[in-house]
Amino acid sequence: MSFQAPKGVKEYIPPQAATFFEIRSAFAETARLAGYSRLETAVFEDTQLFARGVGESTDVVSKEMYTFTDRGDRSLTLRPEFTAGVLRAVLEYGLHRGQLPVKVWTDGPVFRAEAPQEGRYRQFYQLDLEAIGSEDPAVDAETIALAWRWYTTLGLTRVRLLLNSLGCKECRPIYRARLQEFLRGLDLDQATMERVEINPLRVLDDKRPEVRAQVEDAPLIGDHLCADCKAYHDRVRELLADLSIPWEDSPRLVRGLDYYTRTTFEFDHPLLGAQSGIGGGGRYDGLSEAIGGPALPGIGFGLGLDRTVIAMQREGLEAPTPPRCEVYGVALGEEANRAMFALVAGLRAAGVAADMSFGGKGLKGAMKGADRSGARFALILGERDLAAQAVQVKDLTTAEQTEVPLARVVEFLKGKVQ
Ligand code: HAM
Repeated sequence: MSFQAPKGVKEYIPPQAATFFEIRSAFAETARLAGYSRLETAVFEDTQLFARGVGESTDVVSKEMYTFTDRGDRSLTLRPEFTAGVLRAVLEYGLHRGQLPVKVWTDGPVFRAEAPQEGRYRQFYQLDLEAIGSEDPAVDAETIALAWRWYTTLGLTRVRLLLNSLGCKECRPIYRARLQEFLRGLDLDQATMERVEINPLRVLDDKRPEVRAQVEDAPLIGDHLCADCKAYHDRVRELLADLSIPWEDSPRLVRGLDYYTRTTFEFDHPLLGAQSGIGGGGRYDGLSEAIGGPALPGIGFGLGLDRTVIAMQREGLEAPTPPRCEVYGVALGEEANRAMFALVAGLRAAGVAADMSFGGKGLKGAMKGADRSGARFALILGERDLAAQAVQVKDLTTAEQTEVPLARVVEFLKGKVQ
């Protein structure tokens, strides 16, 4: 019997995994340059954290969580997103008692039991960044700008930024009631009618044409923002304009998680078909209190690494497969192998990526390994070379071969590969 990965689990295997790794590293630099610190949080959490934080009425909590009972009879859930857990950690370790905003980022697998298709997985990967403790439009604009910067660094040119404000605890309830009143008058199926009562804003986001047509004239949040929310949103837009970041106002953008307030945004890629959302985020000023913390505003985003990799493929931006090493050792005979083993370690210590042939292969087989490794140089060490304390350095691009004294070979190669 042989095994396969569980359905819907996205994996990255060499050599394609190189693109995945590279785009993550690029984000580390983007975050560092803006003063964000790295953080690692729990992969599973108390189920109640997500129920209260993300919201019982969301699809994520009501249908998509991987929840299990552990041996101590506790209900735990594999994280379906990062924000609730990151905020829980910030509160638990008291980071919010230091300088504000707390600026942190992380990345890793997240889990949602969705129907798998291209770009939609059950185990997928997010980059997550959060700025916690400040209510300042500049923090909102900075957050959006960082995601934008990352997409730009990757070379993506087709990303669209969709922007909306969802109001605050003053103006949203008034809007929500008005929207419900409107939606109750429509001819909608029972499940959608139930949604009108629990989470009416989500109905605006329904993709089915028959629903879309009916909600065409629905009241929009943008027309119901209080003066503070309106001024706040205008300021965010001014600051984005100052950075020459283009956006599209999306008055129907509501997002799928309950904690959002005010600024909400999504990044969309037109070449991705049905799963076009490559990232999204927003402000969550009530989340801390919802999970038992003090009043603490926050904003952040989650960027879908898997969909970003697909977007890069669609834009023809896949990173070329990097060579596995720069130098590849081929030794013939036991003593030569031993000397090569030490030489390869010496090369690595000097910063030269090096590998060698293992398993006592003959010259032909070992040279094939050198070719496959993508190395520029092969080091050939036979018994006669060893006796002469020299090694043959073969440039695999030109086939030119040079004899170099063993004691000098690290220096020699360092000069060539760097
Ligand atoms: P989200 O919109 O649920 O937000 O997810 C963020 C991104 O994760 C999406 O834009 C998409 O690219 C990716 N994604 C979501 N579901 C899947 C899936 N099944 N397969 C592949 N990719 C997927 C959040 O999770 C929030 N925590 C973002 C946030 C951070 N808001 C504030 N701070």
